[in-house]
Amino acid sequence: MLNIAIAGLGTVGAGVVRLLQTNGELIAARAGQPINIKAISARDKGKKRDCDLSGIVWVDDVRKLAEMPGVDAVVELIGGADGIARELAEVTLKKGRSYITANKALIAAYGRALARLAEQNKAQLLFEASVAGGIPVIKALREGLAGNRIRAARGILNGTCNYILSRMREAKISFAEALAEAQAKGYAEADPAGDIDGHDTANKLAILTALAYGVEPDLTAMSIAGIRPVTPADIQAAEEIDCRIKLLGLVEESDGGIAQQVSPCLVPKSSLLAQTEGVMNAVLLRGDFVGDLALQGRGAGAEPTASAVVADIIDLARGLSIPAFGVKAAQLKKARFSRHVPARRMYLRVPAVDKSGALVDIAAALRTGGVTVEKLLPPEALVLGKTDPAVLSRAVAKLGAVFMMPIMD
Ligand SMILES: NC(=O)c1ccc[n+]([C@@H]2O[C@H](COP(=O)([O-])OP(=O)(O)OC[C@H]3O[C@@H](n4cnc5c(N)ncnc54)[C@H](OP(=O)(O)O)[C@@H]3O)[C@@H](O)[C@H]2O)c1
Repeated sequence: MLNIAIAGLGTVGAGVVRLLQTNGELIAARAGQPINIKAISARDKGKKRDCDLSGIVWVDDVRKLAEMPGVDAVVELIGGADGIARELAEVTLKKGRSYITANKALIAAYGRALARLAEQNKAQLLFEASVAGGIPVIKALREGLAGNRIRAARGILNGTCNYILSRMREAKISFAEALAEAQAKGYAEADPAGDIDGHDTANKLAILTALAYGVEPDLTAMSIAGIRPVTPADIQAAEEIDCRIKLLGLVEESDGGIAQQVSPCLVPKSSLLAQTEGVMNAVLLRGDFVGDLALQGRGAGAEPTASAVVADIIDLARGLSIPAFGVKAAQLKKARFSRHVPARRMYLRVPAVDKSGALVDIAAALRTGGVTVEKLLPPEALVLGKTDPAVLSRAVAKLGAVFMMPIMD
């Protein structure tokens, strides 16, 4: 029997309890042994929970879960890079017990140190649910594509942003209205900054980059832009060139190093990314032997996220032992990150344009600065051809405040 302790009984924690109870027999058969929830902890013992906790030991201090006799693994579903989650991870792994989590902030910030601690103490660190919820993208990179050199990865990794952008397009509403709707439906938190400013996507991208390239997760060398500046006019302009706007996490390797970027992007309407709407997520991977691979599914919510957490629990019960990031922690390199994002076609909006003819003048000025202008999208936007990023930023700097988004192939 594998004995687990669950820390955190909110959306995901309760989902994990429900899944383990609903599919207990099937899970035991696949795991080769029954999974026993030995203990649970959260902040408020009296809170009504969305699962049956009868007969399970409640522990007031979550740290104590790591030290309980007989516990093989702690499943942390609390969240946050620092504070209790980090403390719990360290204590658990130092005790030689495994740590399973959905906590992307923790793994993006301290993944390498925790992986090292796991190896030193012969424990497992598993975090399938930390990226794209129910989509098994971590297993895909770490196991299924283990023989490939990964050329690029890109994905819609935040369901909240995708819902907001989808609603802005479908219902022709403003960013603020779509955000309020997402909050009313429980898709966005009261403080939505982590999602809409791109930081949640950045955490997930850092984890994907680490797995894809065998490097330490690193949030410092990443350009991060969120979706706050996207207007209904941008959505409309994108439609005019048969594109939709999506917040993407992008990583690719070139001679200059690894370039990681989080940005709202225009994607062709016919693409899988464009057709990934609402709270759905999608990830595209390109390997040198496998070619292109696409994964799409529910990126958040109790059930899909529990599905990923329970897959990790089953792996552990099966005795699967794979380094957390696919290579030993000591081999995780400090990445050579490229400061330059790759040259791409760009969407440019110049908000100050107010008189007819001005867009033509702006296009002329950009051309003089060495930028290719492919198309004018009146009243205030342009499509720019692939231009060297340094040339582009010099030319655009002369226009004052502008808003730019890459246009993906
Ligand atoms: N929600 C999703 O769809 C989703 C998807 C993928 C990954 N994740 C990740 O999964 C984790 C959990 O997310 P969630 O949505 O389930 O969060 P949540 O609903 O807010 O639940 C958090 C749980 O942690 C408990 N908790 C908070 N601080 C604690 C403390 N100091 N000591 C003990 N327990 C504490 C809370 O206790 P009380 O209930 O008593 O307040 C609650 O049960 C996060 O890392 C999140 O990023 C979530």
